[in-house]
Amino acid sequence: LVPPAEKTGAGGGIIAKDVLGNAIPASQILAEAPGTRALVAGLAGDPTYLIVKEDGSIDSIGIVDVCTHLGCTFPWNGNDQEFQCPCHGSRYHPDGSVARGPAPLPLKIVQVAVVDDHILITPWTALDPRTGEKPWWV
Ligand code: FES
Repeated sequence: LVPPAEKTGAGGGIIAKDVLGNAIPASQILAEAPGTRALVAGLAGDPTYLIVKEDGSIDSIGIVDVCTHLGCTFPWNGNDQEFQCPCHGSRYHPDGSVARGPAPLPLKIVQVAVVDDHILITPWTALDPRTGEKPWWV
């Protein structure tokens, strides 16, 4: 199977992979319960959360699992509905905006699209929907 790289357009998209470098089929993520945050290897190998929405689709916004304080990775806490960094206690809302410092900035986001059974991840270069401003990583 040839990855549909031509469908990613400009901007250096990749196909979501697991930690072993194998492409993850969209159907595997879609089989998860709504509310799931599924960790995949994203752009530049950054661990990235894909979100299964309540309607069973994959959210078009993925959240990069790298704390904006000092770069730790962090889990999703479904009970608190927050990403919670174990290193120094930063907390983030579901959209990646900061709920509690010391994190200085919202989490980086990426664009996620399902094409056939592939999950394409491309850089987010539009305005940051959380701030309405140019993203800090662009
Ligand atoms: Fe996450 Fe410091 S690295 S709070």
